[in-house]
Amino acid sequence: MSVHKEYKKITTKRLFDMKQDGDKIAMLTAYDYTMAKILDTTGIDIILVGDSASNVMAGHETTLPITLDQMIYHASSVIRAVNRALVVVDMPFGTYQGNSKKALESAIRIMKESGGHAVKLEGGEEIADSITRILSAGIPVMGHLGLTPQSIYKFGTYTVRAKEKEEAQKLVNDAKLLEKLGVFALVLEKIPASLAEQVAKSVKIPVIGIGAGSGVDGQVLVMHDMLGMTKDFSPRFLRRYADLHQIMTDAFSQYIKDVKSLDFPNEKEQY
Ligand code: KIV
Repeated sequence: MSVHKEYKKITTKRLFDMKQDGDKIAMLTAYDYTMAKILDTTGIDIILVGDSASNVMAGHETTLPITLDQMIYHASSVIRAVNRALVVVDMPFGTYQGNSKKALESAIRIMKESGGHAVKLEGGEEIADSITRILSAGIPVMGHLGLTPQSIYKFGTYTVRAKEKEEAQKLVNDAKLLEKLGVFALVLEKIPASLAEQVAKSVKIPVIGIGAGSGVDGQVLVMHDMLGMTKDFSPRFLRRYADLHQIMTDAFSQYIKDVKSLDFPNEKEQY
């Protein structure tokens, strides 16, 4: 088992092979050109243009308000930066639930107008028709079960999902159904690690976790959280790899000081 293989381009087939080979899949979100360009050169496998853009880019409390046009804008900015990673685009709330024709139209708009490589939808059996229709057009679909933030008003909280037997069983059934329908990978969000491991072992498609423990085939985090830009979000599963909040605060403060003290610009910094 290798820790990191130098794949030229990541495809859905490659992700499937990575699971069989025991190569873990690394996925992060990105929403703009500059961040995606840096991220793609690091060797990330999947870039998710998440509807978490609604929170971290637009400042909304939930993921519900972001629109299809806004997701396409973010995704097309990311696509222009990316050479290697597979770019998956979240289908926003209201563009696929309860109407498979509308779901296909929305997915086609994402693929045509952004150039994304795949779409992600939240839910199981309830959205099976939409998934089937999108797949029938040759568009790869990633599933998303467990905590599904687009259903926040149904759950009422962002706490761990599927702790009870009944919900855990539904999640296992949904995962198997999604695999049967033909999704190429599955995100499991904020569920017990033992349940996530059980699901990962029971399907052949890669299972990517966020707050779902280490027994899955890969991990995903929201970029702004793992970079330490979002100070007020500290779930147990989040590891911060930098303190960009502090670094940026220091840089902005120094700039203000330099402008006010006439230190910036100096002689070399002008024409
Ligand atoms: O929108 C998002 O960022 C996501 C991840 C949390 C998986 O769906």
